Amino acid sequence: MLSTALSHSFSFNLLRPSSIGVMFYHQKVEDHFKNPRNPGSMNAKDEDVGTGIVGAPACGDALKFQIRVDDKTGKIKEVKFRAFGCPAAVASSSLATTMIEGKTLDEALKIKNTTIANELNLPPVKQHCSMLAQDAIHAAVEDYLKKKKTNQKE
Ligand code: FES
Repeated sequence: MLSTALSHSFSFNLLRPSSIGVMFYHQKVEDHFKNPRNPGSMNAKDEDVGTGIVGAPACGDALKFQIRVDDKTGKIKEVKFRAFGCPAAVASSSLATTMIEGKTLDEALKIKNTTIANELNLPPVKQHCSMLAQDAIHAAVEDYLKKKKTNQKE
């Protein structure tokens, strides 16, 4: 009841699957947490797929983030993620997938965690959760470029 009342008056809701207990989140977080965009995974062995796996040592949360790049245009044509973490990490990852789809690698690398955190109205204590998404984007791009370089040598 409390969460319903709060969601109507302040656009915030309560989510409990966090190890730190009840946390107030903006409804955008709840939306991405309950209806994540682009969940799933791709074959990491595909030549056009870059995979980034990152973790947050402080809390043990982890994120696998994958991009599929169109070799002709250099643009990201597909994104998938699997997050093992708090609602803020899941929402940040989900939002990040929508932000980089259709972007070039350079454009994707320019997306900052602060942009993600601001878009989701993350509370200060959860700002670091959006860092997982930023790190994962970088790791996936790096993996793709490394794979591409290796394939060109062969
Ligand atoms: Fe670990 Fe959010 S508490 S990423």
